[in-house]
Amino acid sequence: MQQDKRITLAWTGASGAPYGLRLLECLLAADYQVYLLISSAARVVLATEHGLKLPAGPEAAQAALAEHLHYQGDKLVVCGKEDWFSPVASGSAAPKKMVVCPCSAGTLASVAHGMSDNLLERAADVVLKERGQLLMVVRETPFSSLHLENMLKLSNLGATIMPAAPGFYHQPTSIEDLVDFMVARILDHLGVEQGLVPRWGYDHRT
Ligand SMILES: Cc1cc2nc3c(=O)[nH]c(=O)nc-3n(C[C@H](O)[C@H](O)[C@H](O)COP(=O)(O)O)c2cc1C
Repeated sequence: MQQDKRITLAWTGASGAPYGLRLLECLLAADYQVYLLISSAARVVLATEHGLKLPAGPEAAQAALAEHLHYQGDKLVVCGKEDWFSPVASGSAAPKKMVVCPCSAGTLASVAHGMSDNLLERAADVVLKERGQLLMVVRETPFSSLHLENMLKLSNLGATIMPAAPGFYHQPTSIEDLVDFMVARILDHLGVEQGLVPRWGYDHRT
């Protein structure tokens, strides 16, 4: 059977916009069709952390992102917050994999409680009900008991909680190295081939 190379990627208003951008870049490079959902707060964080100001409409944002990433393919689809006719809004058409990266405490709570109040929350709800793969790359510190409860609730429902917490054992020398560490772990979980960082154990033996 042919591999379903479609994925839903959501950017929310947690710190860590570079993770989301790099993940998008890698998924497009791996020839995935990416349905990208961007919360209002994510736009603010993207401008603050990366200096990238996206235009408001989904089509204009899609064009701006393609230009920023020098992407000339046709696999990037930016969806609007209330684009209820998007494939990601229905279990009959949605990709079976979704990553929320970075994931804010707010979106974590909304998804944990099935709010489905915008397309991003609805898409996550769909992946959960269809028993697909949902990765939540949560970023907050410290975590309150509420955050921890919401993470446990989602984990018990089958979602994978991946705190945005890069390791240092690959001896990073740049921010890009730290970003790639996280993105590599996410791609591994998604089953997308990557060679961003050396694998544990492989470069220590001769
Ligand atoms: C620059 C910036 C950084 C933020 N960092 C975080 C963060 O790391 N974690 C978090 O949960 N919220 C963070 N917030 C707050 C969220 O953006 C805010 O709670 C927002 O309502 C989340 O909405 P969303 O989940 O729809 O994106 C940050 C906000 C800004 C402007």
